[in-house]
Amino acid sequence: MIDRTHDAAVYETICGGYDDRLFAAAAIGTTDRVLDIGCGYGRTTMEAPRRAPEGHAVGNDLAAPLLEHARRTARSENIRNITFEQGDAQVHPFPTKEFDVAISRMGTMFFADPVAAFANIGAALRPGGRLACAVTADPRENDLAMVLGSAVADHLPPRTNEIGAPGLSSLADPDRIREVLTAAGFTDTGIEKIETRIAAGRTAAEAATLILGWGAAGLDVDDATRTRMHDALAEGLRNHRHPDGIRLRSAGWLFTATCV
Ligand SMILES: C[S@@+](CC[C@H](N)C(=O)[O-])C[C@H]1O[C@@H](n2cnc3c(N)ncnc32)[C@H](O)[C@@H]1O
Repeated sequence: MIDRTHDAAVYETICGGYDDRLFAAAAIGTTDRVLDIGCGYGRTTMEAPRRAPEGHAVGNDLAAPLLEHARRTARSENIRNITFEQGDAQVHPFPTKEFDVAISRMGTMFFADPVAAFANIGAALRPGGRLACAVTADPRENDLAMVLGSAVADHLPPRTNEIGAPGLSSLADPDRIREVLTAAGFTDTGIEKIETRIAAGRTAAEAATLILGWGAAGLDVDDATRTRMHDALAEGLRNHRHPDGIRLRSAGWLFTATCV
């Protein structure tokens, strides 16, 4: 069973390096109404009301247990003007022209039909509303994807990480991002590279334990397999030793666009 508090912390370890650039691009104003797509445990959603104390933030995700944890965290941190709503962002009936800005940290790569999904998100934005999203770039520039891929290859069915294919790398090609956003009705698309480092642990074994406990890695296996995967992961992670611990390159695209 997934330890939700650990899992939420792992997301911050892995994705937190994107926040500064994401929020700078989103330029959330004091009264903005913010929609966070694929918000997971909601850490980025919770950042929105801090920047928009007179606005409102809505976190959207498919996964009810993550949203429940997000609600509890927001309550415990006394964050107001925030709600979390379950739904598939591709088809969810968001209120029309409701939001000033839609953000997402690694939550827009998993749509079956990305054009339909971004059109649906666009319909929730007011005319002139802004979109700011971070997605992963080429898996070869993402050490975590490479280390995970080879460590689990002997234990789990192969996973597709093909650029453009549905899944983690579906928006790894900037031309594809531009094509999707244009077809979905957005203008003024801007795309920038973000390169950051994941501080995965002090030692390879510690980093392997952290990654194995990450729900999104999908490593829910029996104990014997788990031990073998831990050893394989730790072996791969040893190639990323730095004086201050295990550091993994993480590369993504930050894209912005305006709703017509
Ligand atoms: C890599 S996680 C990122 C979570 C969060 N944004 C963060 O940075 O911690 C991707 C999230 O997207 C959600 N997701 C995937 N497909 C979705 C969809 N069609 N509609 C809404 N959420 C979706 C998943 O449930 C997951 O929580």
